Amino acid sequence: MADHRDFLDISECTREEVLNFLKEASRLKAELKAGRGCDELKGKTLAMVFQKPSVRTRVSFEVGMYQLGGYALYLAPSDIGLGKRESVADIARVLARYNDGIMARVFAHSDVLQLAEHAEVPVINGLSDLLHPCQVMADLLTIKEHKGKAEGVKVAFVGDGNNLCNSWLNAALRLDISLSLAIPEGYEPDGEIFERATGANPNVFLTRAPAEAVEGADIIYTDTWTSMGQETEAEQRRRDFKGYMVDRELVGKAKADVIVMHCLPAHRGEEITDEVIDGPHSVVFDEAENRLHAQKAILVELLK
Ligand code: CP
Ligand code: NVA
Repeated sequence: MADHRDFLDISECTREEVLNFLKEASRLKAELKAGRGCDELKGKTLAMVFQKPSVRTRVSFEVGMYQLGGYALYLAPSDIGLGKRESVADIARVLARYNDGIMARVFAHSDVLQLAEHAEVPVINGLSDLLHPCQVMADLLTIKEHKGKAEGVKVAFVGDGNNLCNSWLNAALRLDISLSLAIPEGYEPDGEIFERATGANPNVFLTRAPAEAVEGADIIYTDTWTSMGQETEAEQRRRDFKGYMVDRELVGKAKADVIVMHCLPAHRGEEITDEVIDGPHSVVFDEAENRLHAQKAILVELLK
């Protein structure tokens, strides 16, 4: 039995754990803003394994470890050759001998599960093709700040049923949030994750119509139509997602004080217009900043 915990999937957390992470994130954020250092991870190291590019995930984990008194190592896609130069299990065993934690951004979700199975230190999912749980934790923190609460809100997710959408379904599995998805045919979220969320939360539903999804929404959320690794499908996807752009007209159908969120990177002029992402409803840069604070809470909980 492992004597540590991982952070791979929001569905593995209880409601209380999710809310505690948010509380701890707010505390760490306030300490930082007040100029008080927290060296809760003094002398600890985090190995960061990347199979895909990143701005926010890499920088926020690296800066977060530094601010907590620790150190993070960036391992680029070509450095390790996860599963190619060496098996995922052996990489996990070796990294765990040098480090207090591993954060991994991978293609196949099974790779992050394998890392967790074989590493004797905590493993954090920094995005897989299936899930992006750290992003949704930062999103929940952003919602808590802008709406005064992380529960009792209505989120409308417009676009691709991708890793972000799946992680939102996992959030709706655990928290009292209403989640309406506007997804075109053929791009639905993972079936099992969707069934589990709708089975547990009566306020989760899927429609083909963005206008229906955003009715009464406190939050409109979108993400790229073409995720990392799907680049060859970009043209087809642009055609299939026609009508799913978050523009002024769509925002006007939600609550007057709706906030617009996007995990970034954005493809301006595709899933979202410049006018909306740069406009008064957008909170995308607060959201990006909150990656730092939310992940510091996860790091402290797992590595301390
Ligand atoms: N939102 C997010 O994960 O950004 P990066 O891909 O830049 O890390
Ligand atoms: N769905 C996107 C998120 C990027 C942060 C991707 O997987 O590329």
